[in-house]
Amino acid sequence: MTSPRPVLVVGASGYVGSRVARGLAAGGHTVLAAARRPLPDAGDGVVPVGYERADTLPDAVRAVCARDGLPLPGAVVASIGGWHKGAALLDEDPDRWTATLASHLTAHLDVARALAPLLGPGDPYVVLNGAASREAMAGSGAICVTGAGLAMLVQVLRLEAGQAEPSRAVRFHELVIDHAVAGDDRNADPAQTRTTAQVVTALRGVLDDAAAPAVTHV
Ligand SMILES: NC(=O)c1ccc[n+]([C@@H]2O[C@H](COP(=O)([O-])OP(=O)(O)OC[C@H]3O[C@@H](n4cnc5c(N)ncnc54)[C@H](OP(=O)(O)O)[C@@H]3O)[C@@H](O)[C@H]2O)c1
Repeated sequence: MTSPRPVLVVGASGYVGSRVARGLAAGGHTVLAAARRPLPDAGDGVVPVGYERADTLPDAVRAVCARDGLPLPGAVVASIGGWHKGAALLDEDPDRWTATLASHLTAHLDVARALAPLLGPGDPYVVLNGAASREAMAGSGAICVTGAGLAMLVQVLRLEAGQAEPSRAVRFHELVIDHAVAGDDRNADPAQTRTTAQVVTALRGVLDDAAAPAVTHV
């Protein structure tokens, strides 16, 4: 049975986040869709949560839940980051490198720090990652490095959550989407794709199964 507590999708303005939010809502979840950019067309069963910075996100979530009579979220999906192709690493603009570290890696830690305290024991926190975290890709060096770092970030969060107070631990997971998501034109001529439905099914498997592995690939 689907939990009455909402799933909070962060990065819900993005290609994957917006589709995951709609897909989970279509499957019966109440979805809180958090983004810094406005969500003009969030979709049925998707409740937008606007925020400016990670440290203001918990209060924004509490305010929307209080306004709509919803319980606080019982799960988080972090769909933050994305993919781009550009210069080789040695030629990359240093400011762009720094910006990618901030958006693809530090932002995940900031959001996890802000949101993990909202969750209860055994609640899932799922970080989405991509193929570049496992495979070196020319022209996407910063994405590869931050993706690999993100994979380790989730492992450490999971380990430390269990060590700190096992009975109160949030369960951290990584869901790696190993191929381009179908329809995203930013992926030029992908060898394989994954549909939104495949991603949502894999995600639901992690959300609904307390014994789901730390890392799942789809
Ligand atoms: N698209 C694909 O084909 C594909 C394939 C495989 C894996 N993935 C994975 O799916 C995830 C999302 O990718 P995507 O393609 O949906 O990316 P996207 O379209 O660029 O969206 C990413 C979202 O991240 C949020 N974001 C960016 N910087 C942020 C920051 N500093 N703090 C908080 N939020 C920030 C943005 O939302 P706001 O600025 O509005 O807050 C943005 O909408 C990534 O992990 C990616 O590796 C995507």
